[in-house]
Amino acid sequence: MNAITRLATAVSLASLLPLAAHAGEVEVLHWWTSGGEKRAADTLQKLVEEKGHTWKDFAVAGGGGEAAMTVLKTRAVSGNPPAAAQIKGPDIQEWGELGLLTDLNEVATEQKWDSLLPKQVADVMKYDGDYVAVPINVHRVNWLWINPEVFAKAGATPPTTLEEFFAAADKLKAAGFIAIAHGGQPWQDGTVFEDLAFSILGADGYRKAFVEQDKATLTGAKMTEVFAALQKVRGYIDADAAGRDWNTAAGLVINGKAGMQIMGDWAKSEWTAAGKVAGQDYQCLPFPGSQGSFAYNIDSLAMFKLSNADNRKAQEDLARTIMEPEFQQFFNQNKGSIPVRLDQDMSTFDACAQASMKDFKEAAASGGLQPSLAHGMAASSYVQGAVFDVVTNFFNDPKADPARAAQQLAAAIEAVQ
Ligand code: BGC
Repeated sequence: MNAITRLATAVSLASLLPLAAHAGEVEVLHWWTSGGEKRAADTLQKLVEEKGHTWKDFAVAGGGGEAAMTVLKTRAVSGNPPAAAQIKGPDIQEWGELGLLTDLNEVATEQKWDSLLPKQVADVMKYDGDYVAVPINVHRVNWLWINPEVFAKAGATPPTTLEEFFAAADKLKAAGFIAIAHGGQPWQDGTVFEDLAFSILGADGYRKAFVEQDKATLTGAKMTEVFAALQKVRGYIDADAAGRDWNTAAGLVINGKAGMQIMGDWAKSEWTAAGKVAGQDYQCLPFPGSQGSFAYNIDSLAMFKLSNADNRKAQEDLARTIMEPEFQQFFNQNKGSIPVRLDQDMSTFDACAQASMKDFKEAAASGGLQPSLAHGMAASSYVQGAVFDVVTNFFNDPKADPARAAQQLAAAIEAVQ
């Protein structure tokens, strides 16, 4: 090696040192495995790797995340949790109580999370006053996704009320399309049930039922109406719906086999991945009758205690990256959600995301902003599971009695409180 080569080698090694000295590994548990979701998750991986760290992907397939949570519990019990895991809503408190989560206060202070985040969001991310999780986005659950070409072929009109919704479904069905693309899995049944509850009970009634778990509301006449509407929906899904994944259901609408899908805006990630344009190739409508309500679902990564200093640094950089505007833009444009930062520039977002941000702010001011039960924001996973059981059993039994189901709902919730 001559002097120049030696010098060049020394210089290039030295320039690597600051990075290498702090490079760690970050293992991230999530369930973003559909085509669209993966594109979003990849943006996070790329930005973390650009900071010099190694990304260890811990993806557990299964919409809604039930399977991922089961795997996480096993890993945590064996004393080997990942650095970060997608844990949401009130469940963050449960993991905090177990003493397994680490605090992110230093990063939060440096990036001023308290002033960047809506207070409602910040509170969910804190355990005992410390930030233990970083919020990623805001998903809206009460959406209806429509293929306008299919609607036109069937002579159907995009609905704004529940009555119009069923009228459109009749037209789609009569024209030989699958009216409602559905996947028969408990969390998807629960998502449809929740949207119907927003439409029929209103935001206030929804809050009484699922946030306050008020017995009179849970067993009231309006709740019976919600179950009756759910039973009606069943008449518009196809025979192969049982067990179908949500992204396959989205594919039916994208490919023109079905007219509409009731789903949160992660469904948009599939349209985006298919190269379709919002407002042109597809329409996003607030679920009929739930205009003014915003059922929020916030994805967040909770951080586990780590002993290795470099991995801890990687974990902090992961949190730091998530709150940066660049990530908020790329991730959310692929994921279908809106940024969690209130100051984000929305000009590069599509029509659905812009409508969502506007509705989010308006709903926050009017009381229409309510946590999604089906996506673990309104109550513990025990209450969520109890509701799913009642809803799915009801949905799968065409002869079930709606009034009886409302009674069962209240009893099931009471049993797990
Ligand atoms: C999560 C989303 C995810 C969806 C489907 C929801 O509960 O919040 O991030 O895309 O489930 O898996």
